Amino acid sequence: MSFPSTRLRRLRASAALRGLVRETELRAGQLVLPLFVSEELSAGASGAAQSSARVPVATMPGVSRLSIDAAVAEAGEAAGLGIPAVLLFGIPAEKDEQGSGAWDAEGAVQLATQAIKSAHPELLVITDVCLCEYTTHGHCGVLEPDGTVSNDATVELLARAAVSHARAGADIVAPSDMMDGRVGAIREELDGEGLGDVPILAYSAKFASAFYGPFRDAAGSTPAFGDRRAYQMDPANGREAVREAMLDVQEGADMVMVKPALAYGDLIRAIKEAAGLPVAAYNVSGEYAMVKAAAAAGHIDERAAVLEILTSLGRAGADVIITYHAKDAAQWLAEQK
Ligand code: PBG
Repeated sequence: MSFPSTRLRRLRASAALRGLVRETELRAGQLVLPLFVSEELSAGASGAAQSSARVPVATMPGVSRLSIDAAVAEAGEAAGLGIPAVLLFGIPAEKDEQGSGAWDAEGAVQLATQAIKSAHPELLVITDVCLCEYTTHGHCGVLEPDGTVSNDATVELLARAAVSHARAGADIVAPSDMMDGRVGAIREELDGEGLGDVPILAYSAKFASAFYGPFRDAAGSTPAFGDRRAYQMDPANGREAVREAMLDVQEGADMVMVKPALAYGDLIRAIKEAAGLPVAAYNVSGEYAMVKAAAAAGHIDERAAVLEILTSLGRAGADVIITYHAKDAAQWLAEQK
């Protein structure tokens, strides 16, 4: 049957009809809010003013670097809006060649994890496992003398960082470095340390993207030389992205991620179908900054644009959506009800 007897507009005629046949419903329960926790802002937090410190990130309006106390407050706000999880990034006071701050039991992520879990036990704490915020050179692993990132030496350090996060109470660890074999190594180390119940959310298909710029400002993790193309993926490659995800599944990943999100909807779908486990999409800093800039200039309606973007990620196949818009989106979804 075709036109004129078939008319798809029939089911679009009213809000009730559109609601009845809507295929994808965005839920606050699938959102994750990233938080930047700064050791410097938390250190010697004796006075109230300092302990609740927030320093706005210029390239990401509405996002701040937080002291641990401020992160606890922010996490509480997210939980109050029905957001089930936060994703923690640490900004250490000092960096070194190896990135040893990444597994410091007293590091910003470890202390913030403890503080958030004790204040809001029901809220999930996911921790980003990477070395780039902790190394003086800003690369995601340790360097060989020739300046390349050493895969196997880095994997050991990542496993150490993941264990320290899990010991601090992290509910899920999320390696974002793109070294080969790190998921298996982290799984083995966690299991060996009696942390076998902690799931791994693997940043499986993470691309060498121009959309991470604002994040690197926020986290102070811009590489001092070169770029990340020798470990993060080539944006031109889709089959390889599926292969990365399947390897992570074999190594024991519980969830896999595609990052960035907006230009990679095809891969969210392909990996969803191939992997058969929950897929996360990371709506990254540059994607957030574009929307905020266009909205501030009056060029787009922020609320409508954000809800459309996040819904499209769900339609592409994302079960979990990591986004700096999480609080606004959850608020708007609640108002729609
Ligand atoms: C750390 C990491 C990055 C992001 C998440 N984890 C930066 C990078 O790879 O350079 C980017 C997140 C964002 O842009 O919002 N490796």
